Amino acid sequence: MKYGFIGCGNMGGAIARALSQSTKDILITDRSGKAKALAAELGIGYSDNETIAKTCDRIFLGVKPHMMEAMLEPLMPILQQRKPLLITMAAGLEIQKIEAFAGGSIPVIRIMPNTPTALGKGVIPYCANGLVPADVLANWLNDMASCGLLDPLEERLIDAASALSGSGPAYLFILLEALADGAVACGIPRAKALDYAAMTMSGAAEMYLQTKTHPGALKDAVCSPGGSTIAGIAELERHGFRSAAMDCIRAAYAKNKELGK
Ligand SMILES: NC(=O)c1ccc[n+]([C@@H]2O[C@H](COP(=O)([O-])OP(=O)(O)OC[C@H]3O[C@@H](n4cnc5c(N)ncnc54)[C@H](OP(=O)(O)O)[C@@H]3O)[C@@H](O)[C@H]2O)c1
Repeated sequence: MKYGFIGCGNMGGAIARALSQSTKDILITDRSGKAKALAAELGIGYSDNETIAKTCDRIFLGVKPHMMEAMLEPLMPILQQRKPLLITMAAGLEIQKIEAFAGGSIPVIRIMPNTPTALGKGVIPYCANGLVPADVLANWLNDMASCGLLDPLEERLIDAASALSGSGPAYLFILLEALADGAVACGIPRAKALDYAAMTMSGAAEMYLQTKTHPGALKDAVCSPGGSTIAGIAELERHGFRSAAMDCIRAAYAKNKELGK
């Protein structure tokens, strides 16, 4: 088998979903058997940790960071004998730690994905240790193209990327809900309010991505002097919106650093 997923919940499941667009040569597993339904839906296989360690060439590690050591410990002898490529998505855990948990030197790619990966709209910074051959990395990147943006990033910056793009969907879902709540308070039906807010967030993001115009200039273009938009912005500033957003990223970054200790 080409790919295996040990742990296939929210994040592992999102990657398996997108990757299954490129290849069906995938085995997944979890503890409870919940991922069996996902395997059936995606037309891929369901197995167990040991079989994946014994048969898969590239293994995604999709368990929570604090469960990684206990999950890898019984697989150590097989992993050290076969040396498959391990792909870790665990927040905070450095490649060095994954190697140690796997019993010694082994090829590792560290990724920091986010849940929109399921739709092929993920942001996935990655880095690799020196044991990953260039042709294997290139082939993996090719298979991962169905997941979204794959971007090389130094390992020392992965925790910061995790705080921004890894956790980011959660922050934006709160913003989406809050904007829609405001519109509902002004009389717009809930479903319309949510759709309008979501399309506005996605359209604004697309405008930045397509033009790379500074967000301040894009904002200025919406604000007429003495108008309603600048009145709304004054409220955001009064409530410390910018500093709340910055503090949010810094708090998530600090937590990622703590998780890796
Ligand atoms: N969620 C995100 O947006 C996100 C973003 C970036 C990175 N990550 C990283 O992705 C990893 C997974 O997070 P998640 O949110 O996907 O967690 P999750 O939904 O709780 O999924 C964890 C998965 O691991 C399985 N599992 C736990 N112990 C196992 C074991 N010993 N053997 C086999 N499977 C085992 C669980 O199975 P059961 O459900 O059957 O217990 C579940 O399928 C974490 O390391 C996290 O840091 C998550």
